Amino acid sequence: SDQKLWGARFEGGPSPELAALSKSTDFDWRLAPYDLAGSRAHARVLARAGLLSDDDLTAMLAGLDALAADVDSGAFTAADGDEDVHSALERGLLERLGSELGGRLRAGRSRNDQVATLFKMYLRDQARTISGLVLDVVEALASHARTHLGVAMPGRTHLQHAQPVLLSHHLLAHAWPLVRDVQRLRDWDARLATDSPYGSGALAGSSLGLDPERVAADLGFDGSSANSIDGTAARDFAAEFGFVTAMIGIDVSRLAEEVIIWATKEFDFVVLHDAYSTGSSIMPQKKNPDIAELARGKAGRLVGNLSGLLTTLKALPLAYNRDLQEDKEPAVDSIETLKVLLPAFAGMIATLRFNTERMEALAPQGFSLATDVAEWLVREGVPFREAHELSGACVRACEAADKELWDLTDADLAEISPHLTPGVREVLSVEGSIASRDGRGGTAPVRVGEQLDELADAVARL
Ligand code: ARG
Repeated sequence: SDQKLWGARFEGGPSPELAALSKSTDFDWRLAPYDLAGSRAHARVLARAGLLSDDDLTAMLAGLDALAADVDSGAFTAADGDEDVHSALERGLLERLGSELGGRLRAGRSRNDQVATLFKMYLRDQARTISGLVLDVVEALASHARTHLGVAMPGRTHLQHAQPVLLSHHLLAHAWPLVRDVQRLRDWDARLATDSPYGSGALAGSSLGLDPERVAADLGFDGSSANSIDGTAARDFAAEFGFVTAMIGIDVSRLAEEVIIWATKEFDFVVLHDAYSTGSSIMPQKKNPDIAELARGKAGRLVGNLSGLLTTLKALPLAYNRDLQEDKEPAVDSIETLKVLLPAFAGMIATLRFNTERMEALAPQGFSLATDVAEWLVREGVPFREAHELSGACVRACEAADKELWDLTDADLAEISPHLTPGVREVLSVEGSIASRDGRGGTAPVRVGEQLDELADAVARL
């Protein structure tokens, strides 16, 4: 067929089976606006190289604008015979301008350098959207941290009571990784920005005196690929994007898991808002944390998209191979997944109600102040090794007598060690324990207040 990009050396068109396998318009149509922007930039460098007259350039740009308008309105769509978005849009241009003018645009470019560039442009735009959605989750966490400043909860290691911490401190510990994910997307974007592949041609560059740096600037890049083979063959940018989106999924899933646990009757730390939880079709009493569970599940899907892409890239020889068409669907799926997940997740977090009385009541349970006793002894001059033993002896005595550390009498304490004077009682409260952890990064209210400012600064600097 005459509309194909390569007719001459072939007898007849591709088999229907090949066409069905090859076709990518279902998922690469989202690259259409970037393809058209690339075509405009390419037309301009063709004109600068003397390969398009001024009139031709004007007509070419008008044709591309008309095509862009039809793509926008839906008047122009992929036809059955179009292999990919690039060939479809070439067909559209030829239909509008005729093949004498329309047929000049393909000089010096290949779908190999086109698709690598357009995919980067698409991912850069999507990364900005995803960053915004991640920051909505960060803001939901920071807002709870601000309003609950001062509320204590049991801090855990190994899921066992460890030391009391501020609820705000714990919530911010979920916010920081998400801020780093957005920082990763910014770093990634800066790396991509220097490397526009347009002008690399099929793999070897162009003989037509075109200026890839100009095209790069036109398309919002800071520079063009230093190596045309690398420009067309590399997909590490897509893998890195896949890693960051998977990491976002994983970071969100760790918070999701805690919400699920916190919402159990046994914990009873949070109540989910009705609008952000679900019921059961059989058990009338149920209120389920489906958003958190879907977040946990979708993290697996995001990791799968990353490992699928890495597997496609493994041992792939240079330069372009058609395997690379498999780069797009996992990335698109990860993007669409996060765009649906993150708003629901942010809403669930923002509307959580914390059972602060219960959290505070449980904060000193499980002998979580034992470390405070040991550190008090260290401040009294006792070596930590001995202090640890003495505090452990207090715990053992309490366990045997079924009491808490603060129930030990002065006589009980003195019997364990003369170092354990009544002064130790000053650290046998959750408030005292938390206030004493006042080094940088610690859980003391003054530090957590500073941390809130530091987080806001980090977000403002993004
Ligand atoms: N649709 C292809 C892709 O997404 C680009 C076309 C390159 N095809 C080729 N036969 N060189 O990777």
